[in-house]
Amino acid sequence: MILDPPRAVVGAALEVRDLTVRYGAVTALDGATFSLRTGRVTGLVGMNGSGKSTLFKAVMGLVRPDAGHVRVQGLSTEQARRRGVVAYVPQTEDVDWTFPVAVRDVVLMGRYGRLGLARRPRRADHDAVDAALARVDLTDLADRQIGALSGGQRKRAFVARGLAQEAGVLLLDEPFAGVDRRTEATLTALLRELAADGRTVLVSTHDLQSLDELCDDAVLLQRRVLLHAPPAEILRPENLARAFGVDPAEAAS
Ligand SMILES: Nc1ncnc2c1ncn2[C@@H]1O[C@H](COP(=O)(O)OP(=O)(O)O)[C@@H](O)[C@H]1O
Ligand SMILES: [Mg+2]
Repeated sequence: MILDPPRAVVGAALEVRDLTVRYGAVTALDGATFSLRTGRVTGLVGMNGSGKSTLFKAVMGLVRPDAGHVRVQGLSTEQARRRGVVAYVPQTEDVDWTFPVAVRDVVLMGRYGRLGLARRPRRADHDAVDAALARVDLTDLADRQIGALSGGQRKRAFVARGLAQEAGVLLLDEPFAGVDRRTEATLTALLRELAADGRTVLVSTHDLQSLDELCDDAVLLQRRVLLHAPPAEILRPENLARAFGVDPAEAAS
């Protein structure tokens, strides 16, 4: 079976406008603004604490903005989540890997939005799960516990969940942390293919060396968006210094 292609979209696949998120006294995002076009891989780059994970959580509706808004394929975060148009692969440390669940069941969770609470999975749901597992090359490991997979395999299992969900927008929070180069290359190739198919991918990364292979554009974040540009421009020393160096104004405050 072939998974349904993502819905055709007019306008931005993801629009983040003037987004401010605070945790008590900490301002994690401060007027972040950018928008993503359909069918591209975008890197999200910034130092620890620059607000990358908060941005993903805001897009998923998991944290509430203090100001600004997010639109996913023109929908509010609430509508987007209900319709399953956006899928999220959390940071490794945000997942309980000891939870006893098989890979196939993780992927089947991508169908729950369609199933409703009461309905049992049907043939079409199992077919979608099989197709998603095949797409990420995890068919042989479908019955294994998620906790027994390698780091890269776990990421692919979560990507498969997003595919089973038929999400048009995929968010991945530091999928390359703790995985080896080969695994990173495999995952990168997969994300590229998925974008070429018309999905929109936003992926945070610390690996600046591979930024050019990973993405078409990157967003440089430091609570707000410093720059949204192709990797070559992001990687210019003066731009990296703005995101990773010490900001004199801040050092003084
Ligand atoms: N649940 C939380 N409660 C309080 N502060 C938080 C919470 N989550 C994140 N922060 C703070 O918000 C800022 C941004 O964090 P985060 O979005 O995790 O950044 P990144 O993913 O880029 O490392 C940091 O200063 C972090 O300590
Ligand atoms: Mg983070």
